[in-house]
Amino acid sequence: MNILAFESSCDETAAAVVKDGRTVLSSVIASSADMHAVYGGVVPEIASRKHVEAISGLADEALRQAGIGKSDIDAVAVTYAPGLIGALLVGVSFAKSVAFGLNVPLIPVHHVRGHIAANYIAHADLEPPFLCLCVSGGTTAIVDVRDYTDFRVLGGTRDDAAGECFDKTARVLGLGYPGGAPLDKMARGGNDRAYVFPRAHVEGNPLDLSFSGLKTAVLNLIHNAGQKGETLDFHDLAASFAAAVSDALIPRVMEANQLVGYNKIAVAGGVAANSRIRADLTAACEKAGAKLWLPPLALCGDNAAMVGCQGYYEYLAGHTAGWDLNAKASLDISKG
Ligand code: KG4
Repeated sequence: MNILAFESSCDETAAAVVKDGRTVLSSVIASSADMHAVYGGVVPEIASRKHVEAISGLADEALRQAGIGKSDIDAVAVTYAPGLIGALLVGVSFAKSVAFGLNVPLIPVHHVRGHIAANYIAHADLEPPFLCLCVSGGTTAIVDVRDYTDFRVLGGTRDDAAGECFDKTARVLGLGYPGGAPLDKMARGGNDRAYVFPRAHVEGNPLDLSFSGLKTAVLNLIHNAGQKGETLDFHDLAASFAAAVSDALIPRVMEANQLVGYNKIAVAGGVAANSRIRADLTAACEKAGAKLWLPPLALCGDNAAMVGCQGYYEYLAGHTAGWDLNAKASLDISKG
């Protein structure tokens, strides 16, 4: 079954052709990140306009690279939630028109379900149930993947997402947008104990997280040093910051693992590319005797191959949409 998939939830427009869920025939991405960099964050209107400009050409390119024609497409999958509403609407409207024109089913895909599915593309042996740490620009959650379309959130951030915290910190360090990857690079070789940052504990659910205090602590440190004319070691600061994020995430993932008892752990989303988080999780899983699946860096960020993959499993579960499908800015993964 060939699925033509689209992703447009934030600042990446992407199209892909995925065969039978796990074989990627093509995957193309156009990012408008450069345009947002000037503003230090995503400008929704610009993102939407760039999606409109890019999506049709990307669809053609995805078919060309896959070496198939329109008549070989069996279904169209699209990210419909969560994300920037105007951005999502571009993908949803375009996917609807393609599915309608080709007279094939339209499959709605939850963005974070897609991120989790990126792991299926890379790892043929991975099957639910497993535990997944979902960490991206908009999401931070520890998810019990009970089945391909059955999810339960065990813990999540009460405020900022981990990626947002990386991006804001990177911005004040002058690393531009999106700043997660350059901040990760800056942290390498730095002393992770040079600066003391808070590790928040959230009342009510020990698996929940909070990153707003960490973000404020970093910003205050930098601004106070600037006012006093003190020099900070940015490598040490980046390393200390990455350690604080990782220390918030990894123990909770391992606690959740004990709770579900799968001993099977995966990671998903843009922040899954972070070297400190990958290293700490690898060590923690080795210690606990749990099997770990890490997505390759190319599949951590937004792409449409992951949407085509998850779309296949949604289709098998009977989850198709009518022509009245709408985009949703927010939606719980368990309800997607
Ligand atoms: O999954 P993604 O491409 O988009 C969302 O669905 O949000 O994630 C983007 C986020 C950004 O916040 C970006 O700074 C962060 O992932 N990111 C990283 C790294 N690479 C990307 N954060 C930390 N370390 C990295 N190496």
